[in-house]
Formats: sequence, C-alpha cells, structure tokens
Amino acid sequence: MKNQALADIQKAKSSDELYQVQVKYIGRKGELTLIMRGMANLPASERPAMGKLVNEVKVELETAFENKKAALCAAGISGQLKDAWVDVTVPGTPHEVGHIHPISQVQEEVERIFGSMGFSIMDGPEVESEYYNFEGLNIPSWHPARDMQDTFFIKQEADAKHGKLVLRTHTSPVQVRTMEKYGAPLRIIVPGRVFRNEATDARHEHTFNQVEGLLIDKDISLAHLKGVMQEFLTRLFGRAHSASAQAEGASGFAGANEAELKNKAVKVRFRPGYFPFVEPGIELDMSCLLCDEKGCRVCKHTGWLEFMGAGMVHPNVLKAGGIDPKKYQGWAFGFGLTRLVMMRYGIDDIRLLSGGDLRFLQQF
Ligand code: FA5
Repeated sequence: MKNQALADIQKAKSSDELYQVQVKYIGRKGELTLIMRGMANLPASERPAMGKLVNEVKVELETAFENKKAALCAAGISGQLKDAWVDVTVPGTPHEVGHIHPISQVQEEVERIFGSMGFSIMDGPEVESEYYNFEGLNIPSWHPARDMQDTFFIKQEADAKHGKLVLRTHTSPVQVRTMEKYGAPLRIIVPGRVFRNEATDARHEHTFNQVEGLLIDKDISLAHLKGVMQEFLTRLFGRAHSASAQAEGASGFAGANEAELKNKAVKVRFRPGYFPFVEPGIELDMSCLLCDEKGCRVCKHTGWLEFMGAGMVHPNVLKAGGIDPKKYQGWAFGFGLTRLVMMRYGIDDIRLLSGGDLRFLQQF
C-alpha cells in the first residue's frame, strides 16, 4: 500500500489530484486510517510491531505529500510569472492624508497659551440639562434672556431636579459643573461645541465653537481679565503676523520689523454688556483684521468684531456651584472660537468652515 501511495503521489499533476490521493490514503476513511483503527482487533503481542510500522508509513506519506505540495505550488507560481507582465516602473497609488481642521488647530494654540498661564482645560457634555445651561447660570425659565439663546430641546421627560435636556447654547454650563466638582480657587478654560436655533449668515452658524474662561480666587478684579486677554490676543495674533511675514520672505521677529508687527496687533475695546450670570457684564470687541478697521461685511462695516462676553461671576452662580461669594470672587468669559479662526486665516464666511468642501479645507 505504501509503494502504491508513493507512486500515486508522484503521478499527481495538480493540487486537486494530490488532494484526492490524500483522501484515499490518510483521509478519515482512507486506507491507512482504517488499518490504524483495525489495530484494536489484533492480538496484544502483535500490536507494538504493527503500531511502529504503521507510524513509519504515516510519517513517510505525510512527508511525501508536503514535498509534492511544495513542488506543485512552485511550478504554479513560476508558470504564472512567465505569463504575467508587470511594469515595475508604474507609480504607486498615493494615499490621501488628512490633516487637522483649522478650528482644531487654533483650539490647540488657544489651549497652549492659556495652559502656559496656568489654566486647566475642562470639558462638558454637548447635550446638557436645562439646569446647567440656564437656571444654574441665573437664567430662570421665565427670563427674557432665554430668547437670546434659542436652542433645540431633546424630546424626553423632564428630570425633577435638572429639567429637560437641551443642546447647550454656550460653554458656560461647565462653570457650575466645575465649581461643584473642584471648588475654589479655579483657573480653567473650556473649549467646546455649542448649538443655537439661528438663521445663518456670514458671521452666524447654528453649530459653532466657543471657549469659556473662569478664574475664581480671592481679590480678583476685571483688571486681571484685561491683562490676561491682552496677553492672549497679542500672543495669538502677534505670532500669526510674524509667521505670515516670514512666509513672505520678511525678517519675521527681528528688530524694527517685530515692532511694526506688534503695532499691527489686535486692538480690544470694552463695552457694557448684559448676561444674567455676570455682574457687572461686559462685551469685548477686537479690531477687524480682515479689513484693517476700514469696514467689511464680516464686521458689518464697523471695523470692530464682537469677540466675547465677560464679567464678574454673579454671586448666585457662585452659590449654585457651592462657593461662598463672601470669600471668593472671579470673572468669566466666553468667546467664539470660530470667529477667531476667521480672523486668524482671513476667512470671510463662517459657513465655509463646516461646509465640508475639501478644496477649502485643504488650504490650511
Ligand atoms: C455667551 O454665549 C456667553 N455664554 C458668554 C459669556 C461667558 C458671557 C461668560 C459672560 C461670562 P454670546 O451669546 O454673546 O455669549 O456668545 C459668545 C460669543 O460666541 C460671541 O461673542 C460670538 O463670538 C460667538 N457667537 C455667538 N453666536 C454665534 C453664532 N451664531 N455663530 C458663531 N459665533 C457666535
């Protein structure tokens, strides 16, 4: 049987034929397999010798099968290669490589600047409770200030303590959340996505990004806010101007040129502003860098762009966060990150940023 099997293996011309031979001899009902099963019927004295013999045959056949398989395979490949024609000089297919969205790029830069001033970076939910988005911030349900931030409500039974669920209209809810969790003193920024039921135009989106800031400590005043924002905007735009100047072949940060660039840096102005969660409240405007204050459609031809709301944290908000307003005070601000990105890159329509047009995004 062994000799017959070895001869059959040699004769096989394809892997299919070889497989048939394999089934015939060592398959589940193969000839050798049956002999192995039949060993139980042999007298005990014959079993060791027979067992040894059967095993030797099995190993020999298996080796022969493997060798033949390898030989058939090699012949097949070289046969294929002979027929095939491969042009090894054809260039490969390039992989598309994505890159970081301009909003995320600027967000990272904002985080770096505030991080270097000792601010921690916090996060909060985009689907927020009515309580943290409004009541905790001193905006009860009957308050007209709710109209300023019309939003999308989630169809869900209201929670007895925290009310209905809304898409957060600003990053301010993270103020009370963080006070509850960490107490005072605090120094945080909160970058995040917010939503409003808004008619869109060149400056307004229904979904946009804000950065909240909150500083709580003893003896804090708006003078600290002014200092922090001046430093922040100068670092952000000072570097932006230098980078573009370098790209244009100018000497960048060097000597007189640096002074010139600093002179061109952003200006800020304060106006009184109303937000129920601060007292007093202010608005900070920045000079429009798109038109150099001459007036354009982005700044509504005023030369100034509303940049952020801010003010001293209202005592009711401190209380909601479990902080004693007699011991601590602080300020908060909230600015539109999306608008900052527009200024940074000279984009004159906010809708381009989330329009999904890759030809636009690939420029950054
Ligand atoms: C607020 O959202 C307050 N939470 C800010 C604040 C925080 C005040 C802490 C006081 C203390 P406001 O609605 O003005 O305020 O929005 C803040 C900034 O977000 C605006 O200055 C603007 O830059 C940006 N912004 C507002 N609406 C839109 C919009 N539809 N599209 C793009 N950016 C917007």
